[in-house]
Amino acid sequence: MIDEDIYGIKKWGDDILNVLDNGNIGLKNPFFPENQPVDLIKIIKSLNERGISCPLLLRVTDYLAYRIQQINKTFYKAIKEIGYQGEYKGVFPVKVNQQAQVIDRIVDFGKEYHFGLEVGSKAELLIALAHDLSSESTIICNGIKDREFINLAILSQKLGFKTILVLESPRELDIVIKVSKELNIRPFLGIRIKLTNKVSGKWSESSGDRSAFGLSVEQVMDVINKLKNNGYLDCLILQHSHLGSQIPDIIEIRKATQEACRFFSEITNQGAPLKYIDLGGGLGVDYTGEQKSVVNSINYSLDEYCINIVETVKYELDQSKIKHPTIITESGRACVASSSMLIFNILETTNFDSYEKQEANKDDHPLLKNMMQIPDYLNVDRAQECLNDLNYYRDEIRTLFKSGQINLPAMAKTEETYLYVINKIKEVLTFSNEITEELQSSIDNMADIYHGNFSLFQSLPDVWAIDQIHPIAPIQKLNEIPKRRGVLNDITCDSDGIINKFVLKDGIYNTLPLHEIKDDEDYFLGVFYIGAYQETLGDLHNLFGDTNVVTIKLKDHGNFQLLHEQEGDTISEVLSYVEYEPKDIINRFKNIVEDAVRSRDLSLVERKKLIETFKESISGYTYFEN
Ligand SMILES: Cc1ncc(COP(=O)(O)O)c(C=O)c1O
Repeated sequence: MIDEDIYGIKKWGDDILNVLDNGNIGLKNPFFPENQPVDLIKIIKSLNERGISCPLLLRVTDYLAYRIQQINKTFYKAIKEIGYQGEYKGVFPVKVNQQAQVIDRIVDFGKEYHFGLEVGSKAELLIALAHDLSSESTIICNGIKDREFINLAILSQKLGFKTILVLESPRELDIVIKVSKELNIRPFLGIRIKLTNKVSGKWSESSGDRSAFGLSVEQVMDVINKLKNNGYLDCLILQHSHLGSQIPDIIEIRKATQEACRFFSEITNQGAPLKYIDLGGGLGVDYTGEQKSVVNSINYSLDEYCINIVETVKYELDQSKIKHPTIITESGRACVASSSMLIFNILETTNFDSYEKQEANKDDHPLLKNMMQIPDYLNVDRAQECLNDLNYYRDEIRTLFKSGQINLPAMAKTEETYLYVINKIKEVLTFSNEITEELQSSIDNMADIYHGNFSLFQSLPDVWAIDQIHPIAPIQKLNEIPKRRGVLNDITCDSDGIINKFVLKDGIYNTLPLHEIKDDEDYFLGVFYIGAYQETLGDLHNLFGDTNVVTIKLKDHGNFQLLHEQEGDTISEVLSYVEYEPKDIINRFKNIVEDAVRSRDLSLVERKKLIETFKESISGYTYFEN
């Protein structure tokens, strides 16, 4: 009996994905759950027919619109239920996904909620200022700012933007005051406080006393005094704090909110007319669906997150009799992660099987003979012993081979026997629940390697850099039992280009159940929840560039609409990123070919062919093409 949810799709992807009757993954429309889901394989085939091939980054606008709606509406609901007197107006942190197609849509979908943008650099500020934001939304400027940044931010107020400069250091304030005086504009100012509460998870270092960002208590006092002395305290309208991304535990969010409120009350009591409390990002994504306070998961729902924040702000500020401010959060990951997925095809597999029993013969080395006898005493209880023996005999025979006492055919027979026996051990353990770590790791070491048409460094940099787990599943054959277990290897020639942590229905595993691949059919895998941070953090390792990107909208009756296509980098483009001028490189090649005509008897027809082939490659996709 096939378990269709072996990959745990129900726990990590229930509102956006399901398994269709034909075994393919279907993309559900969260706005219209009763609509027929759109077959992901049908999308890929239809894109292929248009000439758009894998690897492919697929953006589903409905998922972006849905998350923005969810975040805003859930805050509104919490505000209503709790009787909070202020509003919620979130911002999207541009750094989480700066791509124009994404930001344009966020601004568009967010307009009705007065959703603004958070920027952390001049370039991001320019992006924000080029958008038609709701007049009631804010542009929050975080990060270290120079004079030019500050100048532009303050000037933008003239266009009706509510651009708030969040002071990250006392030094910044001197420039702000100077520029404001020169421009004769009263700036909108915020102050970034450093909370003492530390959070767990991967971004623990961005919280607590040692955090690189925000003002310490003494600096907060300095800034307030300086603002007072220069007559600018009335400009201080926002307080900002940020704990770090992907906060796993709701208690940490509540405690940080509580501490932020204490600062808010104190700064207000110092005479600042604070109107906004900005609690930064950190709303996590349950990548593994475990619903636990562990890395890659979270122990709270969006409802809980909103209620905890609104309730805490209300309670704390009521205690200090302070008017409820507008709550801002800077949720990046939670907004965009689900809207992008990477789809790639498997190119080939390497497996470590041998089902063929080697015939013993009288000339075999005694150690090899012993090895061949292991299956005779193999059973579940003696599996570890058998593995120990197997490894011992093989190591001994390898040593003999190195010292010339065993020849190549005998060594090959040993390795075949090793694979045969280890597969027998795997078989015996298939239905055992009590596998020791050592046995499990030996079995994992024998897993297949599925070579995928993607670059981990370009498309999934966090998997490499911080062991991020993204849910991964085949997007077809989910009605067939996956008989293989494998790890995934990308096409860079780097041993780090491997994925060996997978979310399955009942936990995290080192190998992924996979189907056998056949020469005459494509086998695609999907990596889900990659909309946050991955797209611009990626690098050009081995000069694999940006993948093709397609933005779609889900329609009814299982159809979709292609909204936008962005061709992936060509080889010529990636060469120019690394200081090669494509025309120049073609000319260099032509010179080499011409030399060969002179000195190596290269025919003119061959010359032409070589140059054509070179030119064709330089304008092609950096990934494997069919
Ligand atoms: C200041 C600031 N705001 C917001 C975010 C976004 O955080 P997240 O993606 O966890 O919502 C970050 C990222 O760490 C950040 O540094």
